Amino acid sequence: MHKHFLALSDYKKDELSSWIDRAIALKAEAASGKPQQQLAGKTVCLLFEKPSTRTRVSFEAAMYGLGGQVIFMSARDSQLGRGEPLKDTARVLGRYVHALVVRTFGQRVVEELAHYAGIPVINALTDLYHPCQVLSDLMTVLEKKQHLDGLNIAWIGDGNNMANTWIEAAAIFGFKLKLACPETFTPDKDILQRAMKQAPGSIELLHNPQAAIAGADVVNVDVWASMGQEAEQETRLAHFSGYQLNAALLGKAKAEAIVLHCLPAHRGEEVSEEVLEGPQSVIFDQAENKMHLHKALLEHFILQDSRA
Ligand code: CP
Ligand code: NVA
Repeated sequence: MHKHFLALSDYKKDELSSWIDRAIALKAEAASGKPQQQLAGKTVCLLFEKPSTRTRVSFEAAMYGLGGQVIFMSARDSQLGRGEPLKDTARVLGRYVHALVVRTFGQRVVEELAHYAGIPVINALTDLYHPCQVLSDLMTVLEKKQHLDGLNIAWIGDGNNMANTWIEAAAIFGFKLKLACPETFTPDKDILQRAMKQAPGSIELLHNPQAAIAGADVVNVDVWASMGQEAEQETRLAHFSGYQLNAALLGKAKAEAIVLHCLPAHRGEEVSEEVLEGPQSVIFDQAENKMHLHKALLEHFILQDSRA
């Protein structure tokens, strides 16, 4: 039975932590110049229905960096775009490659592909979750803060796929998460309820950015309109008034707080230029870590059978 990586909540803390630890080791190994060839002879297919800069290139660089091969396919250029069923696409691709990395709209799509593919499927962002991103963000937090226990992490903005994934991360890893989201843009209710039950007292949903950021060690922001919501961009702007992470708001966090943004960023909307380019911002280390974390995931999921 192949394992997939569709949501953080499918795994326990120890296993997720082991992938972060492995990514940190692979990063050090790559920096030392040691050749990494463990995926030689293996091929991954990236099937993307939404645009991507970081996730696509970091997965491709990770796979090539481990000696493997990559086939990129935009779903709209494939027969999926003409209505070929997911279950047929999954079974065909499963005969050609060793893993699928999928970016799409519905979580149901990655679940169906995983059900039929016969090879590991990795979620590279859906409307519901962005698990690879949050795992590499946790790697960045660990690098900067050395631990997660007792940290206060703030989420300021939309209750989107990233927020949902941070909520699951808080329930699994046990750090404190305070979210500030406008009343109409709150995270997924089921995810929130489940996580609050799993880790009572760890997660708070507020509607006041100042209250959520007060005393934070880590501050997270993301765009106010995610991919697929472009038509709502203008109406959303009004709802997020007061939610911009600028110097005044960041001043309420701890002085040594770090700022994370998964990028792409809309300067002057969810974050000011001053904060994004300022000394507390770790966004480019954060972006780099995606590649190291993706190496760890590809290695783990593609080699899982040979380790069994
Ligand atoms: N952070 C992230 O997933 O960026 P891309 O959309 O560029 O892949
Ligand atoms: N919430 C954003 C994340 C982009 C990486 C989106 O889904 O567009």
